[in-house]
Amino acid sequence: MTSNPAVRRLADWSAAELRALADEYGTPLYVQDLDRTRQNFDRVAAAFPDADVHYAVKANAGRAVLRALREAGASAECAAAGEVFRAIEAGYDPREVHYTAVNPPDADLDYVLDAAPEATFVVGARDTIDRLAERGFAGRLALRVHPGVGAGHSADVATGADAKFGVPHDEAASVLGEAAERGFDVVGIHAHVGSGMLDESDVASHREVVERLVEVARESPVDLSFVDVGGGFGVPYHPQEEPLDLESVAATTRDVLADVDAAIVVEPGRYLVADAGVLLTEVNTVKPTDGATLAGVDAGMTTLLRPALYGAHHEVRSLDADAADRDEDLVSVVGPICESTDVLAEDRRLPHPERGDLLAVGNAGAYGIEMVSQYNSRPRPAVVAVEGGDDRLVRERDELSTLTAPER
Ligand code: LLP
Repeated sequence: MTSNPAVRRLADWSAAELRALADEYGTPLYVQDLDRTRQNFDRVAAAFPDADVHYAVKANAGRAVLRALREAGASAECAAAGEVFRAIEAGYDPREVHYTAVNPPDADLDYVLDAAPEATFVVGARDTIDRLAERGFAGRLALRVHPGVGAGHSADVATGADAKFGVPHDEAASVLGEAAERGFDVVGIHAHVGSGMLDESDVASHREVVERLVEVARESPVDLSFVDVGGGFGVPYHPQEEPLDLESVAATTRDVLADVDAAIVVEPGRYLVADAGVLLTEVNTVKPTDGATLAGVDAGMTTLLRPALYGAHHEVRSLDADAADRDEDLVSVVGPICESTDVLAEDRRLPHPERGDLLAVGNAGAYGIEMVSQYNSRPRPAVVAVEGGDDRLVRERDELSTLTAPER
């Protein structure tokens, strides 16, 4: 049996293999290991043997990733019409799709009703139920509950505490009853604590969220076929952080839901893809300053937004063959964008950088390629998938002409 460790650190990637990929495909380059992606799914499926695992497509919606996870047994959680479109294109059965509609534009509702009417519509406002009723929909409906408890790697992603998401938990049971009376096929309830739970206190918040769901399930006038406890399973971004105790999250979830007669649904995104991806970038400029030496690279906040948006930490490793022989230096890795927030990594101990060095940025598989932009008219990067010892280009790098192609 092949081993399936709880975490793959940046140091575990083969420098020689990553160098070969950068040589072949250029930089900046996202590398996504589909075998590791499947391993991550397998650990979740093993920890939650009775649950349906819906992959939160927003973490990485690339077709290769969606197909690999579908083959591994995942269903899909989609936040927008575009994600539903991608899931169907990747072969997901619409019946396996949960469409978690957050303030859905009309065009999104109309598309999903047309393309995937058998999907489960997970709604977070009475208003959305009205809009579905106006469209004559009487299909599978689940209610997103606002639990009032959040957790995550940053307050910015502690969704459970944000009233934007879901119906207040003390109103949920009556909304479920009203929806059933209006002819919807009311099938479940959902809540999500936030993104990036890692330590015991985060797991305690997750427990509180599931407890709120149990209260709603008990008061519900409708029999529910599932309780969806969300995703948010975190990964360690710092080398000194321990991996999430997935067994404890699973045991907590099962324990709290023990007396509820409904299937469990989980919807992890990050956990399945983060440590299966790295971003490769090349140093083009080395600049001493009064503080850290600046290593200017060809990836920036347009390539990987997380550090600029959340102050998120991503490990950086020099892949140069002689890196280990160089003196260490205090280095900040900065991108090519005309913004002061365009910093990928600040004040890191790294081998003294040289122009042409290849750097790897860890845990880039989640919310990396998904959050790219073309700001400063930067072409979006390429993506390579590795699988079974082979590699293949799964997303082409933008050409400069891609930038103006949609303009009329
Ligand atoms: N389910 C729902 C309803 C969600 O809103 C989310 C994430 C997930 C599942 C998946 O969460 P995950 O398992 O990936 O933590 N861009 C941010 C993360 C935002 C997540 C938003 N919702 C980041 O880069 O950290």
